Amino acid sequence: MQNTKIAPTSTIEFEKEVFNGLTDYPKHLSSKYFYDKKGDKLFQDIMAMPTYYLTDCEYEILESNKEEITELFTGFGAFDLIELGAGDGKKTKILLKEFNDKNIDFSYVPIDISDNALNQLYNSLQKELPTVNVKPLQGAYFEALEEISYRKNRKIILFLGSNIGNLKHHQAVDFMKKIQELMQPDDLLFMGFDQKKNPQTILEAYNDQEGVTAAFNKNVLARINTELNGNFDLDQFLHWEVYNPETGSAKSYLVSKIEQTVRIEYLDLTINFKAWETIHTEISQKYDDEIINWLAKKSGLKMITAYQAKTFNYKNCVFKKS
Ligand code: AVJ
Repeated sequence: MQNTKIAPTSTIEFEKEVFNGLTDYPKHLSSKYFYDKKGDKLFQDIMAMPTYYLTDCEYEILESNKEEITELFTGFGAFDLIELGAGDGKKTKILLKEFNDKNIDFSYVPIDISDNALNQLYNSLQKELPTVNVKPLQGAYFEALEEISYRKNRKIILFLGSNIGNLKHHQAVDFMKKIQELMQPDDLLFMGFDQKKNPQTILEAYNDQEGVTAAFNKNVLARINTELNGNFDLDQFLHWEVYNPETGSAKSYLVSKIEQTVRIEYLDLTINFKAWETIHTEISQKYDDEIINWLAKKSGLKMITAYQAKTFNYKNCVFKKS
């Protein structure tokens, strides 16, 4: 199967961001570069771990509210279910199966930057739910969304897993606002938001004993090694997680255990690390109702309903254009 392609994924952008991030002070690299074939697999392993409660919460929400969600999505004729960052689609399949069983007229449009993830998803759907109409789009979210914004069917946009949490608040507003501008009055935006909770629970979710999250975090260094001919020694970096219960931001770092020099041939770049110097790699923001309402207001959206998980504090919120 050939996925419809919006824009070629650019190695130039990766090179630029690696150069800028590692020559900046303090150093940083974007978590969007965790996800290659190996990173996708590591993230799937993370989602399967009991300590990573986010997946279970969202699964539970979708499973126990699927009938009400179906009602919310139907009644306006055929719709396009558009998923941003679809990944392996494990949670979405709950809804796909429910719609399929009820003979609902819809198309599923998973959008992902990763061709690999889309192909796996497409193949698994062919096997498990062959009658669902699937139209994968490979590309960046907005290019892909713009591409389909002219379609006449009602659009229901899914952005699950608290993926929004990788953005700082101002970026989240820009992101939600752009989506809002591409929405019609009847369209819906269905999003997952991990909530503030016991800080220990959050630390355990992002710092598992088996070291899967550490390997996921270090995968950005592994990619620099293979794709840009770098020589990072992954064992000389420590995965470190901090959570600030006041702001709700969980942040991941890679900390250099020793003073060391790293060479990245393709960038003709030599980087020095002092002992215990950091590279900031990821933010996983945790929310409360005030922040979510503020984000919605700033983006021109209004919340019409929300679903709450029973076990841990996690929410799925549904928005319309305000
Ligand atoms: C996929 C961005 C939602 O931040 O919780 C999991 C990625 N990072 N463990 C998150 C992640 C470390 C995840 N998101």
